[in-house]
Amino acid sequence: MNGIKKILKRIKYRAKYGIIDIVKQPSLTEIGRRFKTDKCDDNHTFNNISYLDIYEKYFSQIRNNPIKLLEIGINAGASLRTWKEYFKYGEVFGIDIDPNCKNHKENRINIKIGNQDDVNFLSNCFREVDEFDIIIDDGSHINKHMITSFDYLFNNRLKSKGIYIIEDLSCSYKNLQTEYDILNIWPGMKYNDPDENYDNKREDMNNFFFEKIKKLDFCQGNILSIHFWSMICLITKT
Ligand SMILES: C[S@@+](CC[C@H](N)C(=O)[O-])C[C@H]1O[C@@H](n2cnc3c(N)ncnc32)[C@H](O)[C@@H]1O
Repeated sequence: MNGIKKILKRIKYRAKYGIIDIVKQPSLTEIGRRFKTDKCDDNHTFNNISYLDIYEKYFSQIRNNPIKLLEIGINAGASLRTWKEYFKYGEVFGIDIDPNCKNHKENRINIKIGNQDDVNFLSNCFREVDEFDIIIDDGSHINKHMITSFDYLFNNRLKSKGIYIIEDLSCSYKNLQTEYDILNIWPGMKYNDPDENYDNKREDMNNFFFEKIKKLDFCQGNILSIHFWSMICLITKT
C-alpha cells in the first residue's frame, strides 16, 4: 500500500512540475540564440522563418519526452547543446569526421568520430541505442554522403514515426570542390578523402527525392511524409 502511495505522489509531483515546465520553457529559437547555433541566423532564415522555427513546429509535441536525437555534423557543438537544453529529458548523439569534435562530449551529449559515408561506421556507432526519434544530417552536404547516410540510417536506425532531416539543400546544386574549395575552407572537411570528387550534381538529389515521392504516390515503402521547407527536407517514417 505504501508503495502505491509513493508512486501516486511521484506522479502528482511530475504532473504539477511538468505543467510548470511547459509554461516557463523558452522557445527553441531562444535556446539556439543563447548557444549561438547558425540554425537560426539570417543565412538559415527565409520569410522570417528559421530552421529552428520550423523544427519547433515538429518537435514541440515531443519536447518533454525522453527522445534520442542523432545529428551528423558537430563542429563547435552549438546545435548539440541547443538540443540538450530543449529536450530536457532527451539524450543527444553526435557524429563527426573531425577528431577534435570529441571535446564536445558532456552529460547527455554522446559523440563518435567517423565518416557519414561509411555504412560500417554508421551501423556500429551508438549500438546501445537501437533506434533514434530524430536524425539530422548537417554534415558534409555532399550529395553522395547524404544519400548513403539516409539510405542506411532511415531504414535501420530511425524509429517508426521518427523524423529524418536533411539540411542546407542549396549546397546540393553546387560544385563544392572546384568552385568553393570546401576541403580547405569549411571546418572539418579536410578529413574527407582529398582524392574523391565532391562536386555535387543536383540531379542525384532530384532522383533521390523523385523515387521517394513516387513510392508515396503509389502507397508503397516506409515513408509517411516528405515536407520541404526552404533549404531543408523533413521525412517521416511509417
Ligand atoms: C555545418 S558543420 C555542423 C554544425 C553543427 N551541426 C551546428 O549546427 O552547430 C558540418 C560538420 O560536418 C563535419 N563533416 C564533414 N564531412 C563529414 C563526414 N564525411 N562525415 C561526418 N561529418 C562530416 C565537419 O567536420 C563539420 O564539423
